[in-house]
Amino acid sequence: MSAHGKPLPLRAIPCGPLSGVAEVPGDKSISHRSLILGALAVGETRISGLLEGQDVLDTARAMRAFGAEVVDHGGGNWSVHGMGVGGFAEPDQVIDCGNSGTSVRLIMGAMATSPITATFTGDASLNRRPMARVTDPLEMFGARAVGRSGGRLPMTIVGAFDPVPLRYELPVASAQVKSAVLLAGLNAPGETVVIERTPTRDHTERMLAGFGARIAVEEGAAGRVITLTGQPELQPQEIVVPRDPSSAAFPVCAALIVPGSDVLVPGIGLNPTRAGLFATLREMGADLTYENERDEGGEPVADLRARFSPDMEGIEVPPERAASMIDEYPILSVVAANARGVTVMRGVKELRVKESDRIDAMARGLRANGIDVAEGEDWWSVEGHGAGGVPGGAEVETRLDHRIAMSFLVLGMAARAAVSLDDGAPIATSFPTFRKLMAGLGARIEEIGE
Ligand code: S3P
Repeated sequence: MSAHGKPLPLRAIPCGPLSGVAEVPGDKSISHRSLILGALAVGETRISGLLEGQDVLDTARAMRAFGAEVVDHGGGNWSVHGMGVGGFAEPDQVIDCGNSGTSVRLIMGAMATSPITATFTGDASLNRRPMARVTDPLEMFGARAVGRSGGRLPMTIVGAFDPVPLRYELPVASAQVKSAVLLAGLNAPGETVVIERTPTRDHTERMLAGFGARIAVEEGAAGRVITLTGQPELQPQEIVVPRDPSSAAFPVCAALIVPGSDVLVPGIGLNPTRAGLFATLREMGADLTYENERDEGGEPVADLRARFSPDMEGIEVPPERAASMIDEYPILSVVAANARGVTVMRGVKELRVKESDRIDAMARGLRANGIDVAEGEDWWSVEGHGAGGVPGGAEVETRLDHRIAMSFLVLGMAARAAVSLDDGAPIATSFPTFRKLMAGLGARIEEIGE
């Protein structure tokens, strides 16, 4: 069942070459942070290129509930009139974050050091996901959290009256947890320190610095040590959101596996904490080049050019790369099925607590489509059939997970027989233009029952 209405069964039919220019939407992580930091600044932040996917719209609605004036000016241009650090009002309704872990975890952090109470809920997927990883450190600031068993939503956070700053070493490599602690630290007096052994996406740190917070990052033997000075006055910004590398992954990977393809994906954010997939694909022998490399709004950006790559080989993906491509393993496994030999992915147990258990969802769907998959708690491997060798022909379950849905549609584009989904509706959470964009390149995705 889809989160926001009835299920949308879809089918991807094997297609001819994909070609053209794929303009993917704005970065999801940066879009969420633009709205939240805009609400914590004093005055008007303007945002262009905002991703208008359901997850980000849920963050926008939540920021309004906490008192910010959030205006949609059309065409991806938005403005946020913020109340300043510590200025959140108490919402009079439950905050529904839909499918979005980023929304709920970052917003819990942003409100937890203010003397207000808020209750959060989500869809069936989000209400299964672990929240203790965020509420544990928030309680150390002085907040209280009461949720369902296993630290799950729905959950009420009673913000700290007298927050104390924190020194916190992240027990999991999670940018969402890191960001929740930093956003909570904004309204605590003194210095909040976060230590991460494995670097995760650093958009929050970069953007906090851009908004005028005092934040220092040191790379040491223990990892990255991030020190934030609390209670700054954040200055409103003009933000240009780069295009999302996690969304770019789908047309890029489709072009690599559909014979004869040649696709340009312009303006993609290539922050090193996000670009692990592209390095992996190149190691596998993908014909993937970076053109016109530049810097936009403090983030490295390039145009990606992907061409059909019949000679890709399976590799061992290094576990230390996992954080920089954590959302890309589902689509990587589709490329792996079209490469020669075995691809092994280790150090990926976080995949089990995403919008779905992504190892299980992909393993079942790939097996149903004729691909051998082996798995353990924190690793999995995919046996490649080489270019054009994937049988396909099965229907798979999306499990309220947008990336599972898009990955299997890409599988179907290059398989011998069509691949169907029980529900493509979740794609709207992160990439509402996916079907139109892929159709423009030459893909054939149809609604089942049309
Ligand atoms: C995100 C961080 C990642 C990622 C998610 C977005 C973010 O989650 O999977 O899609 O914007 O901070 P974790 O940090 O929990 O790995």
